[in-house]
Amino acid sequence: MKDKMARIKLFDPHIDENEKVQLLRVLGSRFWASGAGIGDVKRFEQKFSGYVKAKDSVALNSGTAALSLALSMYDIKNKEVILPSLSFVATANAVIENGGIPKFVDVDDETLCIDYEKISKAISKRTKVILPVHFAGFPADLSKISELCSENGVHLVEDAAHAAGSVYKNRKIGSHGEMVCFSFHPVKNLAMPTGGLISVNRKDHEQITRILREKRWCGISSRKNTDYDVKNLGWNYYMNEFSAAIGLVQLKKLDKTNKMRRKVAKKYQKEISLESKMPYNDGCSYHFYWIRVKNRTELRKKLLDKGIETGTHYKPIHSFSLYKSRTNLPITDKVGSEIISLPTHPNLTEQDIERVIKTINNLV
Ligand SMILES: Cc1ncc(COP(=O)(O)O)c(C=O)c1O
Repeated sequence: MKDKMARIKLFDPHIDENEKVQLLRVLGSRFWASGAGIGDVKRFEQKFSGYVKAKDSVALNSGTAALSLALSMYDIKNKEVILPSLSFVATANAVIENGGIPKFVDVDDETLCIDYEKISKAISKRTKVILPVHFAGFPADLSKISELCSENGVHLVEDAAHAAGSVYKNRKIGSHGEMVCFSFHPVKNLAMPTGGLISVNRKDHEQITRILREKRWCGISSRKNTDYDVKNLGWNYYMNEFSAAIGLVQLKKLDKTNKMRRKVAKKYQKEISLESKMPYNDGCSYHFYWIRVKNRTELRKKLLDKGIETGTHYKPIHSFSLYKSRTNLPITDKVGSEIISLPTHPNLTEQDIERVIKTINNLV
């Protein structure tokens, strides 16, 4: 029987025999790299496109690479990209890397996704891209944001690092924006040793996908036997075959594991006796569940003493030295000092979930 006081991890990938079998298959093939590998990267792209119903997918080695490459397809040099400051720093780094100017906009107090009303005030002639983050898997208001994009001739690129399997208006995240960037970091809902992907929905998706595929491998194009050309600057952002093999297994069970996460979130939402907590939404993949408290440091320490790991997603990006700006983001600042992330992963037992709820309720 499981030790009642065993440590409850904040993140923990769901692993079964299938991942092990697939890993050994790739190992034995001796074709570990991509491109000339055993074809799992390509299979993963096809399966993922089918899963989210995207026009195309380009598999990469991280969500960071996905954001950088996606933005490199727009000429954002000296142009503004509107994004939330409440995100992982990679979201904004991709803007700077491509010569753009991050324009931080505050989040909605209830969902912690970028606030549509505030985007409409921030948009200007210099705006090139709107980059919402589906925070903790909660789908941002894509209909309204898409409307703003069409009205202003601005492009929609999504940071869906938390949102593999999330649904917005009956369609999986990955099928809405021009480009949607996923992360398959081991803590994510679809876990790999490392990985990312861009799903592409633009009208010119065939051409865009071809260029993205060239850029993910050093710009190499027009390959004929051993000859090739380089027309665009590229990097080594390719997904490897081990990641793709694990990803194929993880993708098969993603809806099931997300359903387990939603069940945990529903119980937290109902039973945690705090006012300020993440709302319940059937379309959310609940990468984690957040609560907000005034005495965060103290509460986190007490929870850890009781064997419950928590996190703080995120220290707002505009508070980092590289990004320091005078932008007024009152909700982001407040959330940044109050938020605690709680585990929702599919390895939690009923007792674990009860323990998290009871311990918090006893402490607040
Ligand atoms: C919101 C967000 N964007 C981007 C990334 C970057 O993804 P990766 O770690 O796969 O590079 C992450 C990963 O933590 C993230 O949480």
